[in-house]
Formats: sequence, structure tokens, C-alpha cells
Amino acid sequence: MNHVPVLFKESIDLLEPTPGKVIVDCTLGRGGHTKGFLDSGAKVIGFDQDIEAIQEVVESYQLKKVSDEPLIYQNDQLIVVHANFSKISTVLAKLEILEVDSIFWDLGVSSPQFDNPSRGFSYRFDAKLDMRMDQTQDVSAWDIVNTCELDQLTTIIREFGEERYARRIARQIVSDRPIDTTFELTETIKKAMPARALAEQHPAKRTFQAIRIAVNNELAALEDSLESGLRHLKLGGRLGVISFHSLEDRIVKEFFKKKQDPCTCPKTIPYCVCGKKPTIKIITRKPIVPATLETEENRRAHSSKLRVAEKISEFKEVGK
Ligand SMILES: C[S@@+](CC[C@H](N)C(=O)[O-])C[C@H]1O[C@@H](n2cnc3c(N)ncnc32)[C@H](O)[C@@H]1O
Repeated sequence: MNHVPVLFKESIDLLEPTPGKVIVDCTLGRGGHTKGFLDSGAKVIGFDQDIEAIQEVVESYQLKKVSDEPLIYQNDQLIVVHANFSKISTVLAKLEILEVDSIFWDLGVSSPQFDNPSRGFSYRFDAKLDMRMDQTQDVSAWDIVNTCELDQLTTIIREFGEERYARRIARQIVSDRPIDTTFELTETIKKAMPARALAEQHPAKRTFQAIRIAVNNELAALEDSLESGLRHLKLGGRLGVISFHSLEDRIVKEFFKKKQDPCTCPKTIPYCVCGKKPTIKIITRKPIVPATLETEENRRAHSSKLRVAEKISEFKEVGK
């Protein structure tokens, strides 16, 4: 494992892995952060929906298979699970674990996924449109690009890519279909954009991000797992999330804010009558960003932000 994980030291310091603790690493990847947690003496339960990532970690730690559905491997200190992190509750139930000490997400695509041309994530390589993190999933980028209606495509590109030219690009896609490869899609996007926009950043960047988010249902999975993760966290336990773009960061920021300040009473009432109490305390008032050196050495680090919160109470709504 010779790549340097993003915001590595900061994540390890703030998630406080110590001997006896159980940390959930929702995004195992090649196990970079997990190695840090293990080296600090904690036990780790690692999730990844990418079977290649799971296989690599299984091999490097010589883990034994203990379940087929979901696929689970383990040794004394590490359990790895081939599953979407939105299934955190189901998997912890299967492992007969009620509570954990910290939960960590290092979101997005891993370098091995981006750099493997055949996975179809990158506009740098020509490949069949794919972009599935979970290779067992049916829907791929090809399906989104070739079967979505114009309005659906526009919404995906606008909302998940924050792309100003979403409508034009969607129209061009519909007119050029079938589009089979990453290079064909890039050409279509370029045709749709005004000349002045081509010079700003890579013209395909936002549309590729949008389609990838749609294929992997990334934002809904993050929202679900934050909610269920918090339910399984011990009091005093921590949630830590590294995000890579504003859509992810907004979800984390708003989730933390809502759980730290859930009171829904009108501001005109001088005291709280809704009874909703904070369940977390935000530890990182501002998100932690990498030092300049890290961004120079690691392309992925550029837009990364780490937010951490600590669970301070269990809140049950009245009547539940
Ligand atoms: C940025 S990489 C993690 C890198 C890792 N922290 C390391 O140090 O090697 C993100 C990983 O999370 C996985 N992933 C992303 N979304 C997921 C989800 N919803 N469920 C499970 N795994 C997911 C991806 O397949 C990828 O391997």
C-alpha cells in the first residue's frame, strides 16, 4: 500500500482509533486509512462496493471468507464487507454488532478506479461507458446516457454536475445517440458547449461527474448512511467525512447542522417547546483542508474537506 491517503493524519487523529475501539471505514478503497486505524490498535469493519478493492485488501491481510451474502472476510482485527455503505445497519446486524466507536467516509472514486481505463470513469482514456463502482450492478453510464429522456438527462447534468450548459449538452447527447464510449461522449459534450467555455476547464469534467453520481446513486447513499451510522454510534463516538465536491460537502454540513441544532421552534419563542435536543457536537467548526504540500503531491487532495462530529446524546422523538 504505497499511495498516501488524503488527509491521512488528520483523519486518524480526529477519529481517535485506540486499542479496543471499533471503527467502521465505509470506503475501504485500497485500505490506506484502514491501515492507519489498524496501526493505532483499533479493530476495523471496512465496506466497499467495488469487488476489486475488497479482493486487494483480502489478499494483503490474508483474510478468510466467513459469509457469501453479503461477501464478508475477516481476521482478528479486520472485517471487510462487499456492500454499499447505505447498508450499514443490515451489515452490523448480521455481524451482531450494535454500536461502534467511530465511522469514517472518504467519498468518491479511488485512484485505482479512475486510473483503470476499462472502468470508464475517466475522460482521459477511451473506454466503454461504465462508471459502476459496484461491478454487479445492472445500471451503467451507458444506460443513463443512452436511455434517459431529455428532461431527466438535463436534471442529472444540472444538479449533479452543476453544469451551466446542461440543457445544451443533454440535447446534443439525445441527438448523437447511441454513444458507446468515453471519447464519443466527450466529443458530444464539446460540440454542445460554446467555444469560450471550452477553454475554462476540461469540458467533460462536470458532465462526467454528474453521470457518475447518478450511476452510483452517490448522494442518496451518503444521506442514508449518515443517518443510520449516527444511530449505531456510541456516545462520545465520532463521525468523520472527507468530501470532494460541493454537493457532498453540503450534505455533510447540513446533516451535522441539523443534528447539532435540531430545534424547530419559531425564533419568536424565547425557549424551546419542540423538545428536539442536539445529538452531536461539531468538532471541526470549519472543514479541515489539506496542506499545500499534500495538494501538490496528490491530485485527489485538491478539493478535499474533512468534517468531524461527536455524538453527545441519543434523541428519541416523543412517542417513539
Ligand atoms: C476515495 S476511495 C477510498 C480510499 C481509501 N480511503 C484509501 O485510503 O485507500 C473511495 C472508495 O469508496 C468506495 N465507495 C464509494 N461509494 C461507496 C458506497 N456507497 N458504498 C461502498 N463503497 C463505496 C469506492 O468504491 C472506493 O473504493
